[in-house]
Amino acid sequence: MNTKTDYPPWLNQAVFYQIYPQSFYDTNGDGIGDIPGIIQKLDYLQWLGINAVWVNPCFVSPFQDAGYDVADYYRIAPRYGTNRDLYRLCREAHKRGIKVCLDLVAGHTSIEHPWFKASCRSSRNKYSDRYIWASSAVWGANPPLPMIRGYAERDANYVANFFYFQPALNYGFARPAAEQPWQQPVDAPGPLESRKELNKIMNYWLSHGVDGFRVDMAFSLVKLDPGRKETIKLWREIIQELRTFYPGTIMIAEWGNPEESITAGFDLDFMFHVGVPGYADLLLNEKCFFRRHGGGNIMGFLESYLEQASKTQGKGLISIPSANHDIKRPSSDGRTASDLKVIFTFLLTWPGVPFIYYGDEIGMRYIPGMPSKEGGYTRTGARTPMQWDDGQNAGFSIAGKDRLYLPLDPRQNRPTVKKQAGDTGSLLHHVRKLIALRKNSPALQAVGALIPLQVKNNDRHFAYLRQSGSERFLIALNPSADPSQVRIKGIKTDKLAPQISHGARAYAEGDDIQIDMDGVSYGIFKL
Ligand code: NOJ
Repeated sequence: MNTKTDYPPWLNQAVFYQIYPQSFYDTNGDGIGDIPGIIQKLDYLQWLGINAVWVNPCFVSPFQDAGYDVADYYRIAPRYGTNRDLYRLCREAHKRGIKVCLDLVAGHTSIEHPWFKASCRSSRNKYSDRYIWASSAVWGANPPLPMIRGYAERDANYVANFFYFQPALNYGFARPAAEQPWQQPVDAPGPLESRKELNKIMNYWLSHGVDGFRVDMAFSLVKLDPGRKETIKLWREIIQELRTFYPGTIMIAEWGNPEESITAGFDLDFMFHVGVPGYADLLLNEKCFFRRHGGGNIMGFLESYLEQASKTQGKGLISIPSANHDIKRPSSDGRTASDLKVIFTFLLTWPGVPFIYYGDEIGMRYIPGMPSKEGGYTRTGARTPMQWDDGQNAGFSIAGKDRLYLPLDPRQNRPTVKKQAGDTGSLLHHVRKLIALRKNSPALQAVGALIPLQVKNNDRHFAYLRQSGSERFLIALNPSADPSQVRIKGIKTDKLAPQISHGARAYAEGDDIQIDMDGVSYGIFKL
């Protein structure tokens, strides 16, 4: 099924891979991953079958929040290489059919950014209104926004977007309060300057071969904005203008509300741990669906997903990521490779655009209790070095152990790419086969129709059809430890060819389909 879409049609076939550059592959022996390292691993990514990468922030930064505190938007952080390395990454990736998306931190900078330093000065200058300042430092208003008091020489307090060292850029207020003159309207000179600069940054990287952006906290730009109406308007204008010069630009929102972000002109948004509910019921909660003994079902996730999908159909896409740098990996909480195979069968046969977080394809572990690094706190355990092989530092770096960005998973039998590449029954091969099947099957891609089957409140399994034209797949998943039986009524078929399956047997019985499922099993059948 190919509906008219508002997003680059290429996204229908997209499978993304998220790279946390610090931890991917270190080529200069300083213990931190780098861009030449990503280039060296492109052949691996091509072998895996992915066709796009999202690289976490890689710009100059004091790295108090892993690079989400940018100090220069136009320069690659020296620890990752040079701008030329980034341009080369784009060229090399394109040769292999892989697109490159950067992380654009649009809502705030670092306190180390020269704009902010100038903005802190008491004398009026070009950057005085680049951030949101409420005067006075001592007696100033305390609006319903996080204010950092007494930081600057200037007699004013600034609004922080996330951590205290991430001052919010000034894109204005949706309804500035008359008695608070520091709340500027969206079309005041300060906010307009911020927009102009944002445009410039995007144009700069697009002109050097980048394919698009994942926009950090894209929802956060205009302040006190009920229903995010002004933020939506702002993005619509920015994206529209950008597309006149770079029509194929991929715009991915970190918004967590596809209905809003896609209206704002983004192609794609995540359903994950923030924003609309559902993801936690799928992968994170104690009683989530993908947990052997949790007892959870698919209902909570499915209702929320179907609502968002119906509101965005034909206009944009939804991504259910395997994880990201802010949450636990799916391999946490005792899940084994067998459990992960069920999860990936779901992720790679689901509509929208799958995102694989680096290392999830081999079942890298979330390491609890890892000391915080670069503002990671509990997120740090999901950011450890990629495990390539059994060599020194798992093949990640030749640096001494104490110089590594983060310690490696200390387990003797930690998974590695090398081990799993040599074992066709591994999780890595499973993921690779699923990607290949998806690529060759329009029904399994972003916009193939989704028909959920037989969902009842106490069901621990879940079955659904994906369909495009005459191509039809039945997918059945049982993440629980107990066997289960699924009866699908009213689907007559003489063909139920297993594509990728384990412990699931499907057969036609008259007008019905019967599926017998072992505990922790999955099956993709072609009808
Ligand atoms: C969301 C990012 O994913 C997270 O890692 C970061 O700390 C915050 N935004 C602030 O930029």
